[in-house]
Amino acid sequence: MCGIVGAVTERPVNKILIEGLKRLEYRGYDSAGVALAQEGELHTVKAVGKVANLESKLELAAVKGTTGIAHTRWATHGGVTEANAHPHVSKGQLALVHNGIIENHSSLREALKGDGYEFVSETDTEVMVHLIHQLREQHDSLLASVQAAVKQFEGAYGTVVFDKANPDEIIVARSGSPLVIGLGLGENFIASDQLALLAVTRRFIFLEEGDVARVTRESVEIYNRTGERVERNIIESTANQDNTGKGEYRHYMLKEIYEQPMAVRNTLEDRLDGSRVAVKAFGERATEIFKDVKHVQIIACGTSYHSGMVARYWLEQFAGISCNVEIASEFRYRQSYVHENSLLVTISQSGETADTLAALRLAKEQGYMASMTICNVASSSLVRESDLAFMTKAGAEIGVASTKAFTTQLVGLLMLTAAIAQEKGLNAEHIVNAVKSLPMKLEEALQLANGIETLAEEFADKHHSLFLGRGSQYPIAMEGALKLKEISYIHAEAYAAGELKHGPLALIDADMPIIVVAPNNELLEKLKSNVEEVRARGGIIYVFADKASHFESDNTMRVVRVNHVEDIIAPVVYTIPLQLLSYYVAVIKGTDVDQPRNLAKSVTVE
Ligand code: M6R
Repeated sequence: MCGIVGAVTERPVNKILIEGLKRLEYRGYDSAGVALAQEGELHTVKAVGKVANLESKLELAAVKGTTGIAHTRWATHGGVTEANAHPHVSKGQLALVHNGIIENHSSLREALKGDGYEFVSETDTEVMVHLIHQLREQHDSLLASVQAAVKQFEGAYGTVVFDKANPDEIIVARSGSPLVIGLGLGENFIASDQLALLAVTRRFIFLEEGDVARVTRESVEIYNRTGERVERNIIESTANQDNTGKGEYRHYMLKEIYEQPMAVRNTLEDRLDGSRVAVKAFGERATEIFKDVKHVQIIACGTSYHSGMVARYWLEQFAGISCNVEIASEFRYRQSYVHENSLLVTISQSGETADTLAALRLAKEQGYMASMTICNVASSSLVRESDLAFMTKAGAEIGVASTKAFTTQLVGLLMLTAAIAQEKGLNAEHIVNAVKSLPMKLEEALQLANGIETLAEEFADKHHSLFLGRGSQYPIAMEGALKLKEISYIHAEAYAAGELKHGPLALIDADMPIIVVAPNNELLEKLKSNVEEVRARGGIIYVFADKASHFESDNTMRVVRVNHVEDIIAPVVYTIPLQLLSYYVAVIKGTDVDQPRNLAKSVTVE
């Protein structure tokens, strides 16, 4: 989603800002802009489309500055135009960038218009810069006017503003959208993600909710939501900036698909103790919490929600405790029942998904025994605000379509299942042993790539598709459908195969490919009956099946044979061929695989 980079230095900042924006490109955006202060002048350059367009325009404009702010915009309020791109400017004096949504922008806009402010964009953001400008008249510093302005903003913001009259300082404010200050020597930086600044510093301060900060070349002053001056810890980042290359692969997504055996190995490393899970991998209090837990409530969005759905099958079957799974955007807006000794588990690749974070904050007021997150970003808000955290070690995931983050989440959830089972005195050895075989099983599944690439050609002219699975493979079918629609733009739905005859059978014809996930388990025969129902109605079926499942390819059925795998880890393994299918279909269709249209990597607005 939107990205922010800012710098206050003695050297020209153009390159720092553009490089920072490029590092955030993978998050998804549709326009970009920069504002620079130099010798009392404010220069603004904006471009629709890629950061490379902005870079060229900036070179042509031949403007430079030693203080600057830059932004990639993912449109929410107002179309994709230069006028709507950030930075927004008030009276030629203040420049501001913003991530998030100001929900009361309409009333603020009307009031500011009444006071003579002229609006040039359709965005919610423009009210921020005008309001700060208006309040500047009543306050003796930009910091004080930002502190006054944020009291009037409803919604979410991570924002950065500077005044061309005093370019030696930038003011930043965070509520609901992350911001990090990067510390340099005689220069300081700001960004919505540390990744943007790894080329210039490794020392970071992560702002907390409600913080407003004044950043100059030499100093950083932070004030909390009540206006008190506070100190925040300086964190030395260990993030790897080299993770961001595509290497020999055509797309990040393909690289990340192939990285899955290693990502799973890394996630397991040091987390197993013989045939037991090392419970401390979840946090200091994990043992005491897991002993007492009677119910697990999982909250997540998108792909992460699908991993939670798989975990419900595992937790109820192998740890013997009840589990509910809910989409964060639904959970946060309804009155839900909190079971006795209930553990709240959020799942997120980014750790910054607005709905998931809001659901965690809400749940903390609702009497859960503890909160836990399964997350891929150690410095994220979800990790910092949860009682327990299990870090997936997938490494940076750049492709918008989540792949290795998903499979490592599944590994984390299997470990959670085993850990709770263990603490309750149940035997979890079979789970741990199965998990240990996963990297090898994933390697084997990747060998299906060539056959799947050929199969993908049959999907290129299709507009709709249906994915079927049963049991813990139903959420895998859902994940397969999400992957296909995200990157190939083919409409894809998933159904629990037993539901077919309750409606979706009406859709079946030769133009609707049916993708079936069919490991050899106790549901296989049931699933075969569902497949026959489709065949009888002329559907073309693509089955991903165990070698021993006895499906045979013919003119209505294509069978992709997957090596036998233990049922408990089958959801992880069967994910791979579905990812490959989506990938190759998207490549054949020529879509922007890594940055599919309209989507963002980190969904920081609700
Ligand atoms: O960062 P999160 O895991 O919380 O993100 C949740 C979803 O936005 C994300 O999984 C989304 O569905 C991906 N595009 C899936 O590929």
